[in-house]
Amino acid sequence: MRAATPPMGWNSWNMFGATVNAEVIKQTADAFVAGGLKDAGYRYIVVDDFWQGGRGEDGKLFPDPQRFPEGMKALADYIHARGLLFGLYSDAGPQTCGGRPASQDFEETDARTFAEWGADYLKYDWCYAEDTRANAEHRYGKMSAALRATGREIVFSICEWGQHSPWLWGAKAGGNLWRTTGDIGDSWRDVPVSWGVLYGIESIGFEQQRGLEAHAGPGGWNDPDMLAVGLNGGSQTIAGAGCTPIEYRTHFALWCLLAAPLMIGCDVRRLDSGTREILTNLELIALDQDPLGRQGYRVSRNGFCELWKKPLAGGEWGVALLNRDNKRQTARGHWSDLEITSRYRIRDVGLLQDRGESSSEVTADLDPHGCAVYRLTPA
Ligand code: GLA
Repeated sequence: MRAATPPMGWNSWNMFGATVNAEVIKQTADAFVAGGLKDAGYRYIVVDDFWQGGRGEDGKLFPDPQRFPEGMKALADYIHARGLLFGLYSDAGPQTCGGRPASQDFEETDARTFAEWGADYLKYDWCYAEDTRANAEHRYGKMSAALRATGREIVFSICEWGQHSPWLWGAKAGGNLWRTTGDIGDSWRDVPVSWGVLYGIESIGFEQQRGLEAHAGPGGWNDPDMLAVGLNGGSQTIAGAGCTPIEYRTHFALWCLLAAPLMIGCDVRRLDSGTREILTNLELIALDQDPLGRQGYRVSRNGFCELWKKPLAGGEWGVALLNRDNKRQTARGHWSDLEITSRYRIRDVGLLQDRGESSSEVTADLDPHGCAVYRLTPA
């Protein structure tokens, strides 16, 4: 099955935008191997918008000759030789969001080209397409059928920003993940154009994940957009002055609770140790990648404190206590709120510490915008 667990990897957009080039992609692949990201489970290296040079007289897309001088097949070979997977980007309309040629009415040709190059993943955007649900189902269905017809296993990422409730039809249209929101921002709160990481409490974005847990599972995931972790305000494309280390931790932990695709957005060639620690927390990643494939959800909210849970395989639970307040808070998760009854062994998977056993509750003293995440195992 394609995307039996949420895809993990890296995408060029958040950090490099229109400046993406083959050198950056190769160095990113090398950094995946040398920096422990591959070992932590990250596999896909996705070249987002602006790789296209044009469409030739033969009808085929070709890459920008200055920035991808050796072509895309050579780049894919480089990535594959390191045991990693290669992703590309196109758009269901006539042009990409960046105004490059896109795949509308070239679905079969482009799918064949991508497969010939060795693509393992296609992110498919929605700019300039006729913006109706019928057209979305039609266009995404058409591209996924064209990808399937190539015989190559290509993960299909639908990116219509949640406009037409893709969680209701994305799997039928052959999607393995579908964006549920507009573009993420690199800040805790909303910033103009982009949503903040956790967005204003009453706002959209992060809050848009509510209720969508019924529509995620092995092979088809809700996608609340790529990780802003580690951008530190240095993005060439997305807005925001950065988050604090605690906020990035919370952002990552919640994406894991949400069984979200984990697509890194920062420059992994220059990972500081704090960012590396967040991105390679294997116990949090294990929550994200749990084989049961259930998306976590909020079970209660008390002022600024929230209680979240994620059912795991084997009768275990992921549980998170989240403090959205600007001051410290003590948060509690009672078994009755979590609708569980047994005695559990409690492991803090954020801090990698055992917390004993309980048959009633977990509590945590949380930093502003902090979060504690636990794995509960029947004792
Ligand atoms: C849209 C998508 C982004 C990115 C850009 C590229 O905004 O939502 O993730 O792919 O287009 O132009």
